[in-house]
Amino acid sequence: MATNSVTVRVPAKVNLQLSVGPRENDGFHGLVTVFQAISIYDDLTITHAAPGSGLALSITGDHIAGVPADETNLAAKAAQIIAKEYDVEIDATMQILKTIPVAGGMAGGSANAAAAIVAIDALYSLGMTREEMVKVARQLGSDVPFMLNGGTAIGRGRGDELTAALSRGTYHWVLALSSAGLSTPSVYAECDRLRAGLIIANPQASDKLMQSLLAADEISVGKHLINDLQSAACSLRPALRLILDVGQEYGALGGIVSGSGPTVAFLVSDEEAGLDLAVALTASGVVGSVARATGPVPGARVIETR
Ligand code: C5P
Repeated sequence: MATNSVTVRVPAKVNLQLSVGPRENDGFHGLVTVFQAISIYDDLTITHAAPGSGLALSITGDHIAGVPADETNLAAKAAQIIAKEYDVEIDATMQILKTIPVAGGMAGGSANAAAAIVAIDALYSLGMTREEMVKVARQLGSDVPFMLNGGTAIGRGRGDELTAALSRGTYHWVLALSSAGLSTPSVYAECDRLRAGLIIANPQASDKLMQSLLAADEISVGKHLINDLQSAACSLRPALRLILDVGQEYGALGGIVSGSGPTVAFLVSDEEAGLDLAVALTASGVVGSVARATGPVPGARVIETR
C-alpha cells in the first residue's frame, strides 16, 4: 500500500562548546562548536493532500507564539528547495507539534527544517543520500545539518561542517527556559559590540572537553562547558546571570547559555540531582519554566508511516 503520511521526530540541541571567531565579510562568524542532541523533541507529520493544493503548514503545541505557519518557516523552505531540486510537486499538509522552546538557542527552527527534509524524502520515496540531505540542510541554516545527524558532533565553519565527536556516557540536563526568546542575529551583533577593538583568535576545539567526553567524565565536562555568546546573551538579558547563579548554588556540574540563548542548560550528575535543581529553579522565581533531558540522542528520524 502506498504511504499516505510520515511522522519524523527530531531532537533539540545544546552547545557544549561555542567558540566564536571574528565576523567574516559575509556577516557570519567562523565557529568551533560541539553540539549534543538532547531528548526534547518536535514531531513533524507530512500527509498527502489533493493535487494542486500546495503545502499547508500547521503548528501545534503549548508555546508556539512567534512560529510562522507560512512559507517563511524553515520547514516550508526545505519543501521549496526539495521541490525545485528534485522536481517533485509537494501537495501536502505539514503539521509540527512543538515542544522545543521557540527562539531558545536550542535549534527548534533548524530541527523542524531537518525533520521536513527526512519526512519529504520518505513520503515521496526520493531516496536522498545523507550527503544530498546535508546539501539541502546547509542552505537552510548553520544548525540544520547537525539536526539531521544528532548525537555529539563538532561543527566548524558556520557550524555546518560536521565531524563526529567521540563521546561516551549519558548526560543529564536541566533546562531553564525563558518565556521570551532572543534573536540569534542580535546576540551575534551584541557579541561583536562587546568585542569591538579586541583581536579575536580563530577558534579551536577544546581538548579538555573532548577528552572529558571520551572518558564519560561528566564532572570534567561540566567544568569545560564554554560559550562565547554567553556574555552577549547576558548583556541583552541580565536575568540570565541570576539563573546561572541559582544553578551553581544548587550543585550543577556546569551551567551555560545554550547557543544564542536565552535557554540556560545545566549539566547534573543524575536524574535525582536534576529533579532537585528543577525544583530549586522553579522556586527561585527567575525562570519561565524548567525542562529535563538526557543526551546524546539520534537526529531526525522517521517514527511512523501510515
Ligand atoms: O545560519 P543561521 O540562519 O542559523 O544563522 C542565523 C544568524 O546567526 C545569521 O544571520 C548570523 O547573524 C548569525 N550567525 C553568525 N555566524 C554563524 C552562524 C550564525 O553570525 N556561524
